[in-house]
Amino acid sequence: MSDTAKLIYKGAEYELPLIYGTEGDDAIDIRNLRNQSGLITFDPGLGNTGSCQSEVTFIDGEKGILRYRGISLDALEHHPNFVEVALMLIFGELPSKAQYERFSTSLTNNANLDEDMKHHFAGFPRSAPPMAVLSAMISTLSCFHPEFLELEDATQVERVAARLISKVRTLAAYAYRRSLGLPYNYPDPSLPYVSNFLHMMFSEPYRQYSIDDEVLAALNMVLILHADHEQNCSTSTVRMVGSSGANLFASCAAGVSALWGPLHGGANMAVIEMLEAIHNGNMTTEEYVALAKDKDSPVRLMGFGHRVYRNFDPRATILREVSEKLLERMGRKDPLLSIARKLEEIALKDSYFIERKLYPNVDFYSGIILRAIGIPTNMFTVIFAIGRLPGWIAHWYEQKRQVYTGNKQSAYTVRTKRGW
Ligand code: SDX
Repeated sequence: MSDTAKLIYKGAEYELPLIYGTEGDDAIDIRNLRNQSGLITFDPGLGNTGSCQSEVTFIDGEKGILRYRGISLDALEHHPNFVEVALMLIFGELPSKAQYERFSTSLTNNANLDEDMKHHFAGFPRSAPPMAVLSAMISTLSCFHPEFLELEDATQVERVAARLISKVRTLAAYAYRRSLGLPYNYPDPSLPYVSNFLHMMFSEPYRQYSIDDEVLAALNMVLILHADHEQNCSTSTVRMVGSSGANLFASCAAGVSALWGPLHGGANMAVIEMLEAIHNGNMTTEEYVALAKDKDSPVRLMGFGHRVYRNFDPRATILREVSEKLLERMGRKDPLLSIARKLEEIALKDSYFIERKLYPNVDFYSGIILRAIGIPTNMFTVIFAIGRLPGWIAHWYEQKRQVYTGNKQSAYTVRTKRGW
């Protein structure tokens, strides 16, 4: 197999080194292209550009494959534990019992915010967009934890990761409670990660939130499916900011701002707004699809299409099942789910979407699940950010668009075989 690619330009030949990925795309190394030939490359969407070799996540858009550290989503679906997936993404392999317990203890011990941070929440108008509050408050954490602005080793990384992953729940819940003028709920150290978040969101002074196992499993799965996705807009932002030497809080705060966009993480909110517009009779599903196809209309079928997947987004397939199972077990019907299924049915038969390989993505069904749990639409992208945080932290050590050099597909090793 040749180690170089040949470029001919203005009669001159240039040999450019090749970089072979473990799987997926191989790359032409253009680091010396300009020096050699005076040429630069042009690729605004970075769709043809890899700016890092990464071992974190592998996506095959044609085959609808998504693997975290070599482990595919369907393997993780049978072991729905967001904290374990977070550790695996950040540190490269499934955690030992000792590491998992150490990290879990750190999550529990670091869930509280410095009481002075409440003054910052009080300064926001109640109508403040939760993503604005989240980005500002993650950045504010750097003021209260200066010891983490310079990180020396993996131990410190584990400590700051636990602090940030733990506190992001508290920040999100406080933003939600503040927006409704409700009292804050302190984290309950007896509750595991996701249960504690639901408690902080929905408990009242007179009534502890009752944790439903189905809701817990569904939210764990939502967070796991959002945990990483290679070099997407927000992850690339975190890496770009981190590449300047900026600390993890500042880098992730920038990631929250990038995720906010309706073409990216904001799409889950836009999907529900689209479904509600149809449900409220503003237009029929057929009319909406026609509008989404109209070149002169800015309307898009939100939750459809993807920069990489030219087939089903494997996360959408799982979330569709999770949404149906959750609603059924809760004995609830959501008219928006029926509308979503009808939109999907129409679009998947329509040549416009078929020719452009536009399929449901992760955002198409996630909102149905979050609605069923009682999370308001304006908090959907915040939930996406909580899920994506471990991926941002993992990538914070690597740089931009990638040539995948990580694990080939590997099996999920059950805990008993990891010395638990
Ligand atoms: C996420 O990158 C990631 O990994 C992101 C993410 C993650 O986990 O981080 O997966 C999460 O952001 C999912 C995507 C959420 N966004 C939406 O659901 C918004 C709706 N989708 C589109 O805006 C769009 O599909 C994108 C932005 C997601 C992807 O756009 P592409 O691949 O760059 O496609 P394009 O904009 O070049 O469009 C190609 C054609 C165009 O038509 P033509 O000019 O060829 O005639 O497809 C059309 C587009 O108009 N098109 C759509 C469409 N998406 C693309 N037409 C109608 N509805 C849509 N949703």
